[in-house]
Amino acid sequence: MSVTVIPLSDTIGVEIQGADLREPILPDDLTTIKRALRDNLVLVVRDQKLGPELLLATMRLFGETMEQHLTNTLMEDYPEIAVLDSRKMPPDNAGHVIPFGGRNWHTDHTNHEQPPKYTGLYAVKLPSKGGDTSFANMQVAFDALDTKEQVQLGELQTVNKIENFGYISMEDRKKFGTLPIHPLIRTHPDTGRKAIYVHPGKLERIVGRQPEESLNFINKLLDRIITPANTYRHIWRQGDLLLCDNRAVLHLAHRDYDMTEGRVMHRILLRGERPF
Ligand SMILES: [Fe+2]
Repeated sequence: MSVTVIPLSDTIGVEIQGADLREPILPDDLTTIKRALRDNLVLVVRDQKLGPELLLATMRLFGETMEQHLTNTLMEDYPEIAVLDSRKMPPDNAGHVIPFGGRNWHTDHTNHEQPPKYTGLYAVKLPSKGGDTSFANMQVAFDALDTKEQVQLGELQTVNKIENFGYISMEDRKKFGTLPIHPLIRTHPDTGRKAIYVHPGKLERIVGRQPEESLNFINKLLDRIITPANTYRHIWRQGDLLLCDNRAVLHLAHRDYDMTEGRVMHRILLRGERPF
């Protein structure tokens, strides 16, 4: 097998063509794939047939799996895999059923001391229309800011909580609600590039500011700096495997589909370093 790398937009995302992940990946191809992910932050391989074991083995080529905190979604025999099924989404405290990840632009699991470096999503079942996921390159967004704002943002730190949803168990809240502090601007360990790093839904506050003021500040910032020029919208096909570098990308799951039809993703998270 020899793979080809095809850009998906001007600023973020590539598709790898010519890969059948049921076959062993040649070392040269793996190097190409890893480099493409490092440089483009989102990587898609289409038309794959991956059972849980093969999905895990593929993801482990890129790192070590980590615990996920929506423990009621985990596959019984493979607890490193979360089954995100729109038909099984419980209502939140206000009685609203909102699809997983469908609230805002965010990066995953910032309530962990060592949040995941990569999220892997494998599309198992899709609704008849809608349910795309968008990805924003926060390195490009950061680079576009003027130096003064870059310096100001670089001084901010976020306190990160677990959301207060009724469906998150007390045990999980205790275990995964330790309020770690992360820099708002984080440096990519592989490239040294800086990116805006935040999950507004998990933002307790910016250090030194009130919670409401903090969230308003972040929402305004993201509204201003995430633009079509730094995003890619992925229209899923069954059998897509997508990897996203959480250290430099925010994503948004569009909630424009009929949740009762069933949109099922298998998700794996790979452990990252402590953000710096
Ligand atoms: Fe997410």
